[in-house]
Amino acid sequence: MVVAAVLRSHELPEGGKVYKELGNRSVLLLRRHGVTYCLDAHCHHMGLSLANGEVTDVEDTPVITCPWHHRKIGLATGCLVGSTGCTQQRQRTHEVREVGGTIWVNIQSEPEQQLESDQNKSSFPSGVLG
Ligand code: FES
Repeated sequence: MVVAAVLRSHELPEGGKVYKELGNRSVLLLRRHGVTYCLDAHCHHMGLSLANGEVTDVEDTPVITCPWHHRKIGLATGCLVGSTGCTQQRQRTHEVREVGGTIWVNIQSEPEQQLESDQNKSSFPSGVLG
């Protein structure tokens, strides 16, 4: 487990999305409807970047849509979201706390249960996939 102060709150405005490398993981921080989320930055499916994914709501559930094959991933749960609702968690999410104007993330660097996105946790060569 790695707990890290990653951003000042004002650096992640409403609707914002920030890419970070923390410990041995690449993550995205996002703010939607005033809530801050953190999840692995590379898609559980084929490891491609979610950095340019569109953030929307599906039936009141905030999701990011992978720009490559259009899977919709719940920001809070890491589950696929669609007509059947939220199914098995595939994308790892990370606990976020915001204290005194600082955003802290608790990175599960060595989780007990492996998820699909753990295979793609590290960054790709700079400038290739973001
Ligand atoms: S890489 Fe295929 S859905 Fe994300």
